[in-house]
Amino acid sequence: MTSPSQPTPTSTSTPPRTSREVRLVSVPDTLPRPENLAVVETPVPEPAAGEVLLRNRFFHVFPALRSVMGDGVQDAPLPPLRPGDTLFGAAIGEVVSAPAGSTLRPGDLVSHWHGWREYAVVPASECVPLGDGLPDPAAHLSQGSTAYDALTDGADVRPGDTVFVSGAAGSLGSMAGQLARLLGAGRVVGSTSTRAKADRLVAELGYDAVLLRGRDDDPIADQLAKAAPDGIDVFFDNVGGEQLRAAVAAARPGARFVLVGALSGQLSPVRPSPHAPVEIDSFAVILKRLRIRGFSGAGLRAVGTGGMDRTVRRVAAGRGHHLPPRSDPGHRKRSAGVVRRGSRQAPGHCDRGVVGAADAQDLDGGAMRIGDAAAAAGTTARALRFYEQRGLLPAPTRTMAGYREYTSRDVSRVRLVRELLALGLTVEDVRGCADWLDECAADGLPKRCAATAATSERAGIAERRLAALDAEIARLTETRDRLAARMNTSAPVG
Ligand SMILES: NC(=O)c1ccc[n+]([C@@H]2O[C@H](COP(=O)([O-])OP(=O)(O)OC[C@H]3O[C@@H](n4cnc5c(N)ncnc54)[C@H](OP(=O)(O)O)[C@@H]3O)[C@@H](O)[C@H]2O)c1
Repeated sequence: MTSPSQPTPTSTSTPPRTSREVRLVSVPDTLPRPENLAVVETPVPEPAAGEVLLRNRFFHVFPALRSVMGDGVQDAPLPPLRPGDTLFGAAIGEVVSAPAGSTLRPGDLVSHWHGWREYAVVPASECVPLGDGLPDPAAHLSQGSTAYDALTDGADVRPGDTVFVSGAAGSLGSMAGQLARLLGAGRVVGSTSTRAKADRLVAELGYDAVLLRGRDDDPIADQLAKAAPDGIDVFFDNVGGEQLRAAVAAARPGARFVLVGALSGQLSPVRPSPHAPVEIDSFAVILKRLRIRGFSGAGLRAVGTGGMDRTVRRVAAGRGHHLPPRSDPGHRKRSAGVVRRGSRQAPGHCDRGVVGAADAQDLDGGAMRIGDAAAAAGTTARALRFYEQRGLLPAPTRTMAGYREYTSRDVSRVRLVRELLALGLTVEDVRGCADWLDECAADGLPKRCAATAATSERAGIAERRLAALDAEIARLTETRDRLAARMNTSAPVG
Protein backbone atom coordinates (compact mmCIF):
# COMPACT_ATOMS: atom_id res chain seq x y z
CA MET A 1 0.00 0.00 0.00
CA THR A 2 1.19 3.53 -0.71
CA SER A 3 1.20 6.11 2.05
CA PRO A 4 -1.36 8.93 1.66
CA SER A 5 1.41 11.45 0.98
CA GLN A 6 2.79 9.38 -1.92
CA PRO A 7 1.10 9.64 -5.32
CA THR A 8 -0.16 6.27 -6.54
CA PRO A 9 1.49 4.89 -9.70
CA THR A 10 -0.82 5.40 -12.67
CA SER A 11 -1.71 2.75 -15.21
CA THR A 12 -4.08 1.97 -18.07
CA SER A 13 -5.89 -1.32 -18.56
CA THR A 14 -3.98 -4.50 -17.74
CA PRO A 15 -1.42 -5.35 -20.44
CA PRO A 16 -1.28 -8.88 -21.85
CA ARG A 17 0.95 -11.38 -20.07
CA THR A 18 3.33 -11.89 -22.98
CA SER A 19 5.09 -9.62 -25.42
CA ARG A 20 7.00 -10.33 -28.62
CA GLU A 21 10.49 -9.10 -29.33
CA VAL A 22 13.10 -9.56 -32.06
CA ARG A 23 16.40 -11.16 -31.02
CA LEU A 24 19.67 -11.81 -32.77
CA VAL A 25 20.15 -15.55 -33.18
CA SER A 26 23.45 -15.58 -35.06
CA VAL A 27 25.84 -13.00 -36.45
CA PRO A 28 25.34 -12.79 -40.25
CA ASP A 29 28.33 -13.19 -42.58
CA THR A 30 26.82 -10.81 -45.11
CA LEU A 31 23.64 -8.78 -44.84
CA PRO A 32 21.14 -10.03 -42.24
CA ARG A 33 18.78 -12.77 -43.32
CA PRO A 34 15.60 -13.95 -41.61
CA GLU A 35 17.41 -16.94 -40.05
CA ASN A 36 19.76 -14.55 -38.18
CA LEU A 37 16.82 -13.15 -36.24
CA ALA A 38 13.94 -14.64 -34.27
CA VAL A 39 10.67 -13.30 -32.96
CA VAL A 40 10.46 -14.51 -29.36
CA GLU A 41 7.50 -14.52 -27.00
CA THR A 42 8.46 -13.39 -23.53
CA PRO A 43 6.65 -12.28 -20.33
CA VAL A 44 5.76 -8.60 -20.30
CA PRO A 45 8.46 -7.07 -18.10
CA GLU A 46 7.55 -5.76 -14.63
CA PRO A 47 8.60 -2.14 -14.13
CA ALA A 48 10.88 -1.59 -11.14
CA ALA A 49 10.91 1.60 -9.10
CA GLY A 50 11.29 4.65 -11.34
CA GLU A 51 10.51 2.70 -14.52
CA VAL A 52 7.78 3.20 -17.07
CA LEU A 53 5.97 0.36 -18.83
CA LEU A 54 5.53 1.24 -22.50
CA ARG A 55 3.61 -0.31 -25.36
CA ASN A 56 5.64 0.40 -28.48
CA ARG A 57 3.78 1.91 -31.37
CA PHE A 58 6.65 2.40 -33.87
CA PHE A 59 10.32 1.62 -34.03
CA HIS A 60 13.25 2.26 -36.31
CA VAL A 61 15.09 -0.08 -38.65
CA PHE A 62 18.52 1.41 -39.26
CA PRO A 63 21.78 0.30 -40.91
CA ALA A 64 24.09 0.84 -37.94
CA LEU A 65 22.53 -2.20 -36.27
CA ARG A 66 24.26 -4.39 -38.84
CA SER A 67 27.58 -2.81 -37.91
CA VAL A 68 27.27 -3.60 -34.20
CA MET A 69 26.15 -7.22 -34.69
CA GLY A 70 28.95 -9.38 -33.28
CA ASP A 71 31.82 -7.61 -31.57
CA GLY A 72 30.44 -4.12 -32.14
CA VAL A 73 32.50 -1.15 -33.25
CA GLN A 74 35.15 0.55 -31.18
CA ASP A 75 34.19 4.13 -30.21
CA ALA A 76 30.67 3.70 -31.65
CA PRO A 77 27.83 5.28 -29.67
CA LEU A 78 25.93 1.95 -29.83
CA PRO A 79 26.80 -1.18 -27.80
CA PRO A 80 27.60 -4.54 -29.45
CA LEU A 81 24.67 -6.77 -30.32
CA ARG A 82 25.41 -10.40 -29.49
CA PRO A 83 23.42 -13.60 -30.18
CA GLY A 84 20.58 -13.78 -27.68
CA ASP A 85 20.34 -9.99 -27.35
CA THR A 86 17.12 -8.17 -28.20
CA LEU A 87 17.59 -5.63 -30.99
CA PHE A 88 17.30 -2.01 -29.96
CA GLY A 89 16.79 1.39 -31.49
CA ALA A 90 14.66 4.48 -31.41
CA ALA A 91 10.98 3.87 -30.81
CA ILE A 92 7.73 5.61 -30.02
CA GLY A 93 5.92 4.05 -27.08
CA GLU A 94 2.65 4.69 -25.33
CA VAL A 95 2.79 4.86 -21.53
CA VAL A 96 0.93 1.94 -19.95
CA SER A 97 1.98 2.70 -16.38
CA ALA A 98 4.22 5.35 -14.89
CA PRO A 99 5.96 5.40 -11.52
CA ALA A 100 4.66 7.38 -8.59
CA GLY A 101 5.51 11.04 -8.86
CA SER A 102 6.17 10.91 -12.62
CA THR A 103 4.71 13.62 -14.85
CA LEU A 104 3.98 10.92 -17.43
CA ARG A 105 0.40 9.71 -17.75
CA PRO A 106 -1.04 6.53 -19.28
CA GLY A 107 -1.66 7.15 -22.95
CA ASP A 108 1.18 9.69 -23.30
CA LEU A 109 3.49 9.07 -26.25
CA VAL A 110 7.22 9.16 -25.60
CA SER A 111 10.35 8.47 -27.61
CA HIS A 112 12.98 6.13 -26.19
CA TRP A 113 15.63 3.60 -27.28
CA HIS A 114 14.01 0.22 -26.58
CA GLY A 115 12.55 -0.62 -29.97
CA TRP A 116 12.06 -4.02 -31.62
CA ARG A 117 9.69 -5.24 -28.87
CA GLU A 118 6.02 -4.81 -28.14
CA TYR A 119 6.37 -3.88 -24.48
CA ALA A 120 9.38 -2.25 -22.84
CA VAL A 121 10.28 -1.03 -19.36
CA VAL A 122 12.33 2.13 -19.52
CA PRO A 123 13.63 4.43 -16.76
CA ALA A 124 11.33 7.44 -16.62
CA SER A 125 14.37 9.69 -17.08
CA GLU A 126 14.99 8.12 -20.52
CA CYS A 127 11.46 8.75 -21.83
CA VAL A 128 11.10 11.94 -23.86
CA PRO A 129 7.46 13.06 -24.13
CA LEU A 130 6.47 13.88 -27.70
CA GLY A 131 4.22 16.62 -26.56
CA ASP A 132 3.74 18.90 -29.45
CA GLY A 133 1.50 17.15 -31.90
CA LEU A 134 3.28 16.45 -35.15
CA PRO A 135 0.46 14.97 -37.20
CA ASP A 136 1.92 11.46 -37.27
CA PRO A 137 3.83 9.91 -34.33
CA ALA A 138 6.13 8.19 -36.84
CA ALA A 139 7.39 11.65 -37.81
CA HIS A 140 9.16 11.76 -34.47
CA LEU A 141 11.44 8.99 -35.73
CA SER A 142 12.66 11.28 -38.44
CA GLN A 143 16.36 11.74 -39.11
CA GLY A 144 15.62 15.39 -39.79
CA SER A 145 17.53 16.76 -36.82
CA THR A 146 20.66 14.76 -37.69
CA ALA A 147 20.50 15.85 -41.32
CA TYR A 148 19.92 19.45 -40.31
CA ASP A 149 22.75 19.54 -37.78
CA ALA A 150 25.10 17.94 -40.30
CA LEU A 151 24.13 20.43 -43.01
CA THR A 152 24.41 23.47 -40.76
CA ASP A 153 27.02 22.76 -38.07
CA GLY A 154 28.85 20.21 -40.19
CA ALA A 155 28.82 21.67 -43.69
CA ASP A 156 27.64 25.25 -43.20
CA VAL A 157 25.35 25.18 -46.26
CA ARG A 158 24.97 28.66 -47.75
CA PRO A 159 22.47 30.16 -50.19
CA GLY A 160 23.37 29.30 -53.77
CA ASP A 161 25.59 26.32 -52.87
CA THR A 162 25.73 23.26 -55.06
CA VAL A 163 25.18 20.35 -52.66
CA PHE A 164 25.87 16.69 -53.42
CA VAL A 165 24.14 14.12 -51.16
CA SER A 166 25.22 10.49 -51.50
CA GLY A 167 22.68 7.83 -50.49
CA ALA A 168 19.97 10.36 -51.32
CA ALA A 169 17.07 7.90 -51.11
CA GLY A 170 17.86 6.79 -47.54
CA SER A 171 16.28 8.40 -44.51
CA LEU A 172 19.11 10.86 -44.00
CA GLY A 173 19.48 11.54 -47.71
CA SER A 174 15.73 12.12 -48.17
CA MET A 175 15.84 14.69 -45.39
CA ALA A 176 19.18 16.22 -46.39
CA GLY A 177 18.07 17.05 -49.94
CA GLN A 178 14.90 18.76 -48.81
CA LEU A 179 16.60 20.62 -45.98
CA ALA A 180 19.49 21.76 -48.19
CA ARG A 181 16.91 23.18 -50.55
CA LEU A 182 15.13 24.96 -47.69
CA LEU A 183 18.48 26.30 -46.48
CA GLY A 184 18.92 27.99 -49.83
CA ALA A 185 21.07 25.59 -51.85
CA GLY A 186 21.09 26.56 -55.52
CA ARG A 187 21.49 23.03 -56.90
CA VAL A 188 21.05 19.69 -55.16
CA VAL A 189 22.49 16.51 -56.65
CA GLY A 190 21.94 13.05 -55.16
CA SER A 191 22.91 9.45 -55.78
CA THR A 192 20.88 6.28 -55.60
CA SER A 193 20.76 2.77 -57.04
CA THR A 194 17.79 2.68 -59.40
CA ARG A 195 16.33 4.82 -62.14
CA ALA A 196 12.88 4.67 -60.56
CA LYS A 197 14.18 6.12 -57.31
CA ALA A 198 16.20 8.73 -59.19
CA ASP A 199 13.09 9.87 -61.07
CA ARG A 200 11.15 10.24 -57.88
CA LEU A 201 13.96 12.04 -56.08
CA VAL A 202 13.80 14.64 -58.83
CA ALA A 203 10.01 14.72 -59.15
CA GLU A 204 9.13 14.69 -55.46
CA LEU A 205 12.10 15.39 -53.20
CA GLY A 206 13.52 18.50 -54.79
CA TYR A 207 16.71 17.03 -56.27
CA ASP A 208 17.89 18.64 -59.51
CA ALA A 209 19.89 15.65 -60.74
CA VAL A 210 20.58 12.14 -59.49
CA LEU A 211 23.55 9.85 -60.19
CA LEU A 212 23.16 6.08 -60.43
CA ARG A 213 25.58 3.78 -58.61
CA GLY A 214 24.72 0.58 -60.50
CA ARG A 215 27.39 -1.71 -61.91
CA ASP A 216 26.36 -0.87 -65.47
CA ASP A 217 26.22 2.87 -64.95
CA ASP A 218 28.97 5.34 -65.85
CA PRO A 219 31.57 5.99 -63.15
CA ILE A 220 30.17 8.26 -60.45
CA ALA A 221 32.94 10.84 -61.14
CA ASP A 222 31.84 11.19 -64.77
CA GLN A 223 28.17 11.50 -63.83
CA LEU A 224 28.97 14.07 -61.12
CA ALA A 225 31.05 16.15 -63.53
CA LYS A 226 27.99 16.32 -65.82
CA ALA A 227 25.44 16.94 -63.06
CA ALA A 228 27.52 19.68 -61.41
CA PRO A 229 29.66 21.12 -64.23
CA ASP A 230 30.81 24.05 -62.06
CA GLY A 231 31.75 21.76 -59.19
CA ILE A 232 30.25 21.20 -55.73
CA ASP A 233 30.39 23.41 -52.62
CA VAL A 234 29.07 20.88 -50.13
CA PHE A 235 29.23 17.10 -49.92
CA PHE A 236 26.85 15.35 -47.51
CA ASP A 237 28.27 11.84 -47.50
CA ASN A 238 26.27 8.83 -46.37
CA VAL A 239 28.22 6.34 -48.43
CA GLY A 240 32.00 6.86 -48.70
CA GLY A 241 34.01 4.80 -51.20
CA GLU A 242 33.85 5.77 -54.85
CA GLN A 243 31.42 8.59 -54.13
CA LEU A 244 33.79 10.30 -51.70
CA ARG A 245 36.62 10.03 -54.21
CA ALA A 246 34.41 11.53 -56.94
CA ALA A 247 33.36 14.37 -54.65
CA VAL A 248 36.99 15.32 -53.99
CA ALA A 249 37.55 15.49 -57.74
CA ALA A 250 34.43 17.63 -58.28
CA ALA A 251 34.95 19.95 -55.28
CA ARG A 252 35.33 23.66 -55.75
CA PRO A 253 38.08 25.41 -53.79
CA GLY A 254 37.04 25.73 -50.14
CA ALA A 255 34.27 23.10 -50.43
CA ARG A 256 32.93 21.68 -47.16
CA PHE A 257 32.45 17.94 -46.74
CA VAL A 258 30.46 16.40 -43.92
CA LEU A 259 30.95 12.64 -43.56
CA VAL A 260 27.88 11.17 -41.90
CA GLY A 261 27.73 7.51 -42.90
CA ALA A 262 29.75 4.75 -44.52
CA LEU A 263 27.06 2.74 -46.28
CA SER A 264 29.43 1.38 -48.92
CA GLY A 265 31.11 -0.60 -46.14
CA GLN A 266 28.15 -1.11 -43.81
CA LEU A 267 25.79 -2.48 -46.44
CA SER A 268 28.30 -3.97 -48.83
CA PRO A 269 26.52 -6.96 -50.37
CA VAL A 270 29.82 -8.87 -50.45
CA ARG A 271 31.46 -8.16 -47.09
CA PRO A 272 29.63 -5.74 -44.83
CA SER A 273 31.98 -3.93 -42.51
CA PRO A 274 31.74 -0.85 -40.35
CA HIS A 275 34.89 0.34 -42.10
CA ALA A 276 34.92 2.00 -45.50
CA PRO A 277 38.52 2.56 -46.57
CA VAL A 278 38.95 4.62 -49.72
CA GLU A 279 41.85 6.16 -51.58
CA ILE A 280 41.41 9.88 -52.17
CA ASP A 281 43.71 12.43 -53.77
CA SER A 282 45.15 14.16 -50.71
CA PHE A 283 47.00 16.64 -52.92
CA ALA A 284 43.65 17.80 -54.36
CA VAL A 285 42.38 18.18 -50.78
CA ILE A 286 45.35 20.42 -49.97
CA LEU A 287 45.26 22.49 -53.15
CA LYS A 288 41.53 23.08 -52.94
CA ARG A 289 41.69 23.72 -49.18
CA LEU A 290 38.82 21.29 -48.64
CA ARG A 291 37.30 21.04 -45.20
CA ILE A 292 36.39 17.43 -44.42
CA ARG A 293 34.55 16.96 -41.16
CA GLY A 294 33.24 13.78 -39.55
CA PHE A 295 29.82 14.12 -37.99
CA SER A 296 28.26 12.07 -35.24
CA GLY A 297 24.90 13.08 -33.84
CA ALA A 298 24.29 12.13 -30.24
CA GLY A 299 21.75 9.51 -31.22
CA LEU A 300 18.27 10.09 -32.44
CA ARG A 301 16.62 13.18 -31.06
CA ALA A 302 12.85 13.24 -31.12
CA VAL A 303 11.78 15.81 -33.64
CA GLY A 304 9.17 18.09 -32.20
CA THR A 305 10.70 18.20 -28.75
CA GLY A 306 12.62 21.09 -27.27
CA GLY A 307 13.96 23.73 -29.56
CA MET A 308 13.88 21.78 -32.81
CA ASP A 309 14.27 24.02 -35.80
CA ARG A 310 11.01 24.78 -37.57
CA THR A 311 12.52 23.83 -40.91
CA VAL A 312 13.19 20.34 -39.61
CA ARG A 313 9.75 20.02 -38.10
CA ARG A 314 8.22 21.02 -41.36
CA VAL A 315 10.10 18.40 -43.34
CA ALA A 316 9.80 15.68 -40.69
CA ALA A 317 6.09 16.27 -40.37
CA GLY A 318 5.76 15.48 -44.04
CA ARG A 319 5.46 19.05 -45.20
CA GLY A 320 8.42 18.17 -47.37
CA HIS A 321 8.15 15.25 -49.71
CA HIS A 322 8.93 11.58 -49.69
CA LEU A 323 9.18 8.49 -51.78
CA PRO A 324 7.01 5.62 -50.65
CA PRO A 325 8.80 2.53 -49.30
CA ARG A 326 7.73 0.56 -52.34
CA SER A 327 10.49 2.36 -54.27
CA ASP A 328 12.95 -0.24 -53.03
CA PRO A 329 11.14 -3.32 -51.82
CA GLY A 330 14.40 -5.09 -51.02
CA HIS A 331 15.69 -2.47 -48.67
CA ARG A 332 13.96 -3.48 -45.49
CA LYS A 333 14.83 -7.09 -46.10
CA ARG A 334 18.47 -6.15 -46.51
CA SER A 335 18.47 -3.99 -43.41
CA ALA A 336 16.51 -6.11 -41.04
CA GLY A 337 15.85 -9.49 -42.47
CA VAL A 338 12.48 -10.08 -40.89
CA VAL A 339 10.66 -6.82 -41.24
CA ARG A 340 8.01 -7.16 -43.88
CA ARG A 341 4.59 -6.44 -42.45
CA GLY A 342 3.87 -3.14 -40.85
CA SER A 343 6.86 -1.31 -42.24
CA ARG A 344 6.27 2.24 -43.21
CA GLN A 345 8.16 5.39 -43.81
CA ALA A 346 8.29 8.28 -41.47
CA PRO A 347 6.66 11.23 -43.18
CA GLY A 348 9.07 13.12 -45.37
CA HIS A 349 11.33 10.13 -45.86
CA CYS A 350 11.85 7.37 -48.30
CA ASP A 351 13.56 4.03 -47.75
CA ARG A 352 13.07 4.25 -44.01
CA GLY A 353 11.85 1.13 -42.31
CA VAL A 354 9.63 2.43 -39.55
CA VAL A 355 7.71 -0.46 -38.07
CA GLY A 356 4.27 -0.14 -36.60
CA ALA A 357 4.88 -2.42 -33.62
CA ALA A 358 1.39 -2.65 -32.26
CA ASP A 359 -1.09 -2.33 -35.04
CA ALA A 360 1.11 -4.00 -37.68
CA GLN A 361 -0.90 -2.33 -40.36
CA ASP A 362 0.43 -3.17 -43.79
CA LEU A 363 1.14 0.15 -45.41
CA ASP A 364 3.20 -1.16 -48.27
CA GLY A 365 0.58 0.09 -50.69
CA GLY A 366 2.47 3.40 -50.88
CA ALA A 367 0.98 6.85 -51.27
CA MET A 368 -2.40 7.48 -52.89
CA ARG A 369 -3.77 10.51 -54.62
CA ILE A 370 -7.00 11.99 -53.31
CA GLY A 371 -9.32 10.24 -55.78
CA ASP A 372 -7.90 6.80 -55.00
CA ALA A 373 -7.92 7.42 -51.25
CA ALA A 374 -11.52 8.65 -51.39
CA ALA A 375 -12.58 5.62 -53.43
CA ALA A 376 -10.80 3.29 -50.99
CA ALA A 377 -12.67 4.90 -48.10
CA GLY A 378 -15.99 4.79 -49.95
CA THR A 379 -16.43 8.54 -50.22
CA THR A 380 -15.56 11.52 -52.40
CA ALA A 381 -12.48 13.70 -52.77
CA ARG A 382 -14.62 16.63 -51.67
CA ALA A 383 -15.40 14.86 -48.40
CA LEU A 384 -11.69 14.30 -47.74
CA ARG A 385 -10.96 17.98 -48.23
CA PHE A 386 -13.90 18.83 -45.95
CA TYR A 387 -12.69 16.47 -43.19
CA GLU A 388 -9.23 18.00 -43.44
CA GLN A 389 -10.63 21.53 -43.30
CA ARG A 390 -12.71 20.70 -40.23
CA GLY A 391 -9.85 19.04 -38.37
CA LEU A 392 -11.09 15.44 -38.60
CA LEU A 393 -8.22 14.35 -40.84
CA PRO A 394 -4.62 15.59 -40.53
CA ALA A 395 -3.31 17.54 -43.52
CA PRO A 396 -1.62 14.95 -45.74
CA THR A 397 1.82 15.32 -47.28
CA ARG A 398 2.05 17.00 -50.66
CA THR A 399 4.05 16.23 -53.76
CA MET A 400 6.28 18.89 -55.28
CA ALA A 401 3.42 19.67 -57.62
CA GLY A 402 1.16 20.24 -54.60
CA TYR A 403 -0.99 17.10 -54.87
CA ARG A 404 -2.21 15.61 -51.60
CA GLU A 405 -0.90 12.10 -50.86
CA TYR A 406 -2.63 9.67 -48.51
CA THR A 407 -1.58 6.43 -46.82
CA SER A 408 -3.75 3.45 -45.97
CA ARG A 409 -3.69 4.75 -42.39
CA ASP A 410 -5.46 7.91 -43.61
CA VAL A 411 -7.99 5.75 -45.44
CA SER A 412 -8.73 3.80 -42.24
CA ARG A 413 -9.21 7.06 -40.43
CA VAL A 414 -11.62 8.39 -43.04
CA ARG A 415 -13.63 5.17 -42.80
CA LEU A 416 -13.82 5.60 -39.04
CA VAL A 417 -14.85 9.24 -39.29
CA ARG A 418 -17.66 8.29 -41.66
CA GLU A 419 -18.77 5.50 -39.38
CA LEU A 420 -18.87 7.83 -36.37
CA LEU A 421 -20.85 10.44 -38.31
CA ALA A 422 -23.25 7.74 -39.48
CA LEU A 423 -23.69 6.72 -35.82
CA GLY A 424 -25.05 10.15 -35.07
CA LEU A 425 -21.94 11.93 -33.80
CA THR A 426 -21.64 15.47 -35.09
CA VAL A 427 -18.59 16.92 -36.82
CA GLU A 428 -17.87 18.78 -33.57
CA ASP A 429 -18.12 15.52 -31.60
CA VAL A 430 -15.66 13.76 -33.88
CA ARG A 431 -13.30 16.72 -33.83
CA GLY A 432 -13.44 16.54 -30.04
CA CYS A 433 -11.74 13.15 -30.11
CA ALA A 434 -9.70 13.66 -33.29
CA ASP A 435 -6.43 13.30 -31.39
CA TRP A 436 -7.37 9.78 -30.34
CA LEU A 437 -8.95 8.43 -33.51
CA ASP A 438 -5.81 6.61 -34.57
CA GLU A 439 -5.84 4.59 -31.36
CA CYS A 440 -9.17 3.19 -32.34
CA ALA A 441 -9.51 -0.51 -33.08
CA ALA A 442 -11.04 -1.21 -36.47
CA ASP A 443 -14.41 -1.98 -34.97
CA GLY A 444 -14.48 0.11 -31.82
CA LEU A 445 -14.64 3.68 -30.61
CA PRO A 446 -11.49 5.41 -29.45
CA LYS A 447 -11.22 4.38 -25.84
CA ARG A 448 -11.13 7.91 -24.59
CA CYS A 449 -14.11 8.99 -26.70
CA ALA A 450 -16.12 6.24 -25.10
CA ALA A 451 -14.84 6.78 -21.57
CA THR A 452 -17.01 8.30 -18.89
CA ALA A 453 -16.80 11.97 -18.15
CA ALA A 454 -15.34 11.08 -14.74
CA THR A 455 -12.11 9.79 -16.29
CA SER A 456 -11.36 12.76 -18.49
CA GLU A 457 -12.87 16.15 -18.92
CA ARG A 458 -13.00 15.84 -22.71
CA ALA A 459 -14.20 12.25 -22.66
CA GLY A 460 -17.73 10.98 -22.70
CA ILE A 461 -18.59 12.21 -26.19
CA ALA A 462 -20.07 8.85 -27.14
CA GLU A 463 -21.94 8.60 -23.84
CA ARG A 464 -23.44 12.03 -24.34
CA ARG A 465 -24.51 11.09 -27.85
CA LEU A 466 -26.06 7.85 -26.55
CA ALA A 467 -27.95 9.83 -23.91
CA ALA A 468 -29.19 12.25 -26.59
CA LEU A 469 -30.33 9.32 -28.75
CA ASP A 470 -32.07 7.72 -25.74
CA ALA A 471 -33.87 11.01 -25.02
CA GLU A 472 -34.89 11.30 -28.67
CA ILE A 473 -36.14 7.69 -28.67
CA ALA A 474 -38.14 8.38 -25.49
CA ARG A 475 -39.64 11.54 -27.03
CA LEU A 476 -40.58 9.75 -30.27
CA THR A 477 -41.98 6.75 -28.35
CA GLU A 478 -44.14 9.05 -26.32
CA THR A 479 -45.37 10.85 -29.45
CA ARG A 480 -46.13 7.52 -31.07
CA ASP A 481 -48.04 6.26 -28.03
CA ARG A 482 -50.10 9.43 -27.88
CA LEU A 483 -50.97 9.18 -31.56
CA ALA A 484 -51.88 5.47 -31.19
CA ALA A 485 -54.07 6.24 -28.15
CA ARG A 486 -55.81 9.00 -30.07
CA MET A 487 -56.51 6.64 -32.97
CA ASN A 488 -57.98 4.02 -30.60
CA THR A 489 -60.33 6.56 -29.07
CA SER A 490 -61.37 8.12 -32.41
CA ALA A 491 -64.62 7.16 -34.01
CA PRO A 492 -64.18 4.63 -36.84
CA VAL A 493 -63.99 6.22 -40.27
CA GLY A 494 -66.51 5.31 -42.98
N1 LIG B 1 26.62 10.37 -38.09
C1 LIG B 1 25.42 10.25 -37.56
O1 LIG B 1 25.08 10.90 -36.57
C2 LIG B 1 24.46 9.31 -38.20
C3 LIG B 1 23.13 9.23 -37.77
C4 LIG B 1 22.27 8.36 -38.41
C5 LIG B 1 22.75 7.56 -39.45
N2 LIG B 1 24.06 7.64 -39.80
C6 LIG B 1 24.60 6.85 -40.91
O2 LIG B 1 24.19 7.49 -42.10
C7 LIG B 1 24.08 6.54 -43.14
C8 LIG B 1 22.70 6.64 -43.77
O3 LIG B 1 21.73 6.24 -42.82
P1 LIG B 1 20.21 6.16 -43.21
O4 LIG B 1 19.47 6.08 -41.95
O5 LIG B 1 19.89 7.21 -44.19
O6 LIG B 1 20.15 4.78 -43.94
P2 LIG B 1 18.89 4.09 -44.65
O7 LIG B 1 17.68 4.92 -44.56
O8 LIG B 1 18.83 2.72 -44.15
O9 LIG B 1 19.30 4.13 -46.17
C9 LIG B 1 20.19 3.24 -46.64
C10 LIG B 1 20.49 3.59 -48.10
O10 LIG B 1 21.69 2.95 -48.38
C11 LIG B 1 21.79 2.78 -49.74
N3 LIG B 1 22.66 1.63 -49.88
C12 LIG B 1 22.38 0.35 -49.58
N4 LIG B 1 23.45 -0.42 -49.81
C13 LIG B 1 24.42 0.40 -50.26
C14 LIG B 1 25.76 0.21 -50.69
N5 LIG B 1 26.33 -0.99 -50.68
N6 LIG B 1 26.46 1.30 -51.10
C15 LIG B 1 25.90 2.52 -51.11
N7 LIG B 1 24.65 2.76 -50.73
C16 LIG B 1 23.91 1.71 -50.30
C17 LIG B 1 20.35 2.62 -50.23
O11 LIG B 1 20.11 3.57 -51.20
P3 LIG B 1 20.18 3.30 -52.76
O12 LIG B 1 19.98 1.84 -52.98
O13 LIG B 1 19.08 4.11 -53.29
O14 LIG B 1 21.53 3.80 -53.15
C18 LIG B 1 19.49 3.06 -49.06
O15 LIG B 1 18.62 4.09 -49.40
C19 LIG B 1 24.37 5.20 -42.49
O16 LIG B 1 25.73 4.91 -42.69
C20 LIG B 1 24.09 5.44 -41.03
O17 LIG B 1 24.78 4.55 -40.20
C21 LIG B 1 24.91 8.50 -39.20
